[in-house]
Amino acid sequence: MKVGEPERLIIDGKRLDGRAFDELRPIKIEAGVLKRADGSAYLEWGGNKVMAACYGPREVHPRHLARPDSAILRCIYNMAAFSVSDRKRPGPDRRSVEISKVTREALEHVVFTHLFPRTAIDVFIEILQANAGTRCSGITAASVALADAGIPMADLVPACAAGKVGGEIVLDLNDVEDNYGEADLPVAITPKKGEVTLLQMDGNFTREEFEKAFKLAIKGCKKVHKIQKEALRKKYGGT
Ligand code: CDP
Repeated sequence: MKVGEPERLIIDGKRLDGRAFDELRPIKIEAGVLKRADGSAYLEWGGNKVMAACYGPREVHPRHLARPDSAILRCIYNMAAFSVSDRKRPGPDRRSVEISKVTREALEHVVFTHLFPRTAIDVFIEILQANAGTRCSGITAASVALADAGIPMADLVPACAAGKVGGEIVLDLNDVEDNYGEADLPVAITPKKGEVTLLQMDGNFTREEFEKAFKLAIKGCKKVHKIQKEALRKKYGGT
């Protein structure tokens, strides 16, 4: 047993933070919070606090990256030095490069890049406070920021993880569950078409456990999608 590891992660059919197996942590999203960005969103998800800002379509620098037939989407995921309990060394590292890449791939599928040839759409995700599930929080906030910027998109992209903790399949792992649990499965979807644009796995599942966790994560994504829509409705009205 590691230092700080709880004896059990599931007690009397509940998780250590009192949640049911299929319960999300509380989520709040506010659209349009930054004056100087073309679009932005602030998200709180359990202990995660995330700011997403979007710029563009705008001129591409360096110019050789420009594509004659479409816009390029660039995503940068950054964890603030003070966002985790052990200070995070500022600047890019392997983890943030990987998360930036999977975030771009999760989002570029829905953005109508062909409408804006020779331009760039830039998305910046700043993790101000981290408590597991920051890639899902970042993708969720970024897609609201893109919508807030008025960038034409086929859909929003909600994301949510499921995992295996103390032998149980549970939704939306917190940091203790992420650190000491058996597996984590972050997923992002496009709710209208039901496509999966992010699927990663850390740890081990049996095939049956994987299928159960995958279905649960998709259910979580659909709940997150409702909260994204409410945030946009609150700012812009409509149904
Ligand atoms: O955040 P996410 O679950 O998408 O990614 P992860 O790489 O599985 O990280 C899980 C959690 O570990 C993060 O959300 C942080 O709470 C924590 N972490 C940390 O404490 N220090 C780091 N340098 C990186 C992550």
